[in-house]
Amino acid sequence: MDSSTPSSTPLSDAPQALPQLPGPKLAPFTPTAHADIEFIEQLGNPAEDMDSFVWKVRINGMAPYYALKMFQFNAALYLESSIGSYLNRPLASPQLWIDYFDPFRCECRAYGRLKEECREDIAVRAHGYLFLTPEQELEVAKRSTPIQPDDAENDDPWGRAEEPLVADRPVHAIVKDLATDNNHFTRDQIDHLWRDLEDFHKLGILVRDVTVSNYIGGKLIDLSRAWTVPHPSLEYIHERYLRQQRRRDPVCLQNCIIDVGIDDGWNLDEVDMKELDACAIGEGENDGYGIDPRRYDWRKWEDHRTLEATEAFLEHEIYAPPPPEDPEAEGDEEE
Ligand SMILES: Nc1ncnc2c1ncn2[C@@H]1O[C@H](COP(=O)(O)OP(=O)(O)O)[C@@H](O)[C@H]1O
Ligand SMILES: [Mg+2]
Repeated sequence: MDSSTPSSTPLSDAPQALPQLPGPKLAPFTPTAHADIEFIEQLGNPAEDMDSFVWKVRINGMAPYYALKMFQFNAALYLESSIGSYLNRPLASPQLWIDYFDPFRCECRAYGRLKEECREDIAVRAHGYLFLTPEQELEVAKRSTPIQPDDAENDDPWGRAEEPLVADRPVHAIVKDLATDNNHFTRDQIDHLWRDLEDFHKLGILVRDVTVSNYIGGKLIDLSRAWTVPHPSLEYIHERYLRQQRRRDPVCLQNCIIDVGIDDGWNLDEVDMKELDACAIGEGENDGYGIDPRRYDWRKWEDHRTLEATEAFLEHEIYAPPPPEDPEAEGDEEE
């Protein structure tokens, strides 16, 4: 890959918007991407939360409080073997698996799209990313409840050991509004939960992690599994798997509404979820699954010059070349 189509997190002092890939990006929260951070208390349930440590923080000694989501690293091989098996074309390098599938980058891309489209109203707002200093990451690891208590991972709380590409990388974090609502969502927010989810799809984002704990006050707070176009998984993927992934968003929202409804004693027969229910069984609008994120026009953000470079990158650089044809196999066919 040449320097005009960069990948990976830059190590230079002048932080750039991330990830360095075609498509939406998230800018640093401060000019250096570093800040003085006071860690006040850990948020969430470490037994449930998979990708991160989230803390209530004060940044540079100033109000307001924020939520800081600090991401563990994922090995490229893990990302490739867990998600990659569904792609029709493998990616060209380990770094590209990280760039497209690592939770921090997935979240940057999704939030970047909400910002460029001025639709930050459909999720808890993100303000930018930060890098932790070694001292800060040590403090968080020491003071946090371990994600998997009896596990050897406690020696490697940030998951660096499995991936040489991240050995010298700082921990990446995203600064978000601190959501303080006590409810995941209420009965009168149900209509907009589905409308917001369809708006994500309209903006070319498949959320892929719709759970009760990912809603606070009727808004999604977690976009770390999202696929945002242009994305290999929305291009070269087994059609059946993509249909299943598209169905998963409405199915999971349906489950969330039922779970919260039962807990809160709603009469679920009175809750109108016709369109959501239809999409969950493939009988909804459009081709059955609601709005197709692949139809989002991401090219409108590119000018003539960058569009050419971006299309060339997407076409020629991110996928591993197909294996050479076996001349003997061809000969066999002819016989
Ligand atoms: N912006 C926020 N405000 C308040 N609490 C938050 C916020 N973001 C996350 N949390 C808490 O932290 C938990 C984990 O955050 P989440 O983004 O879902 O991480 P993961 O990707 O690891 O699941 C959430 O379930 C929630 O309890
Ligand atoms: Mg979550």
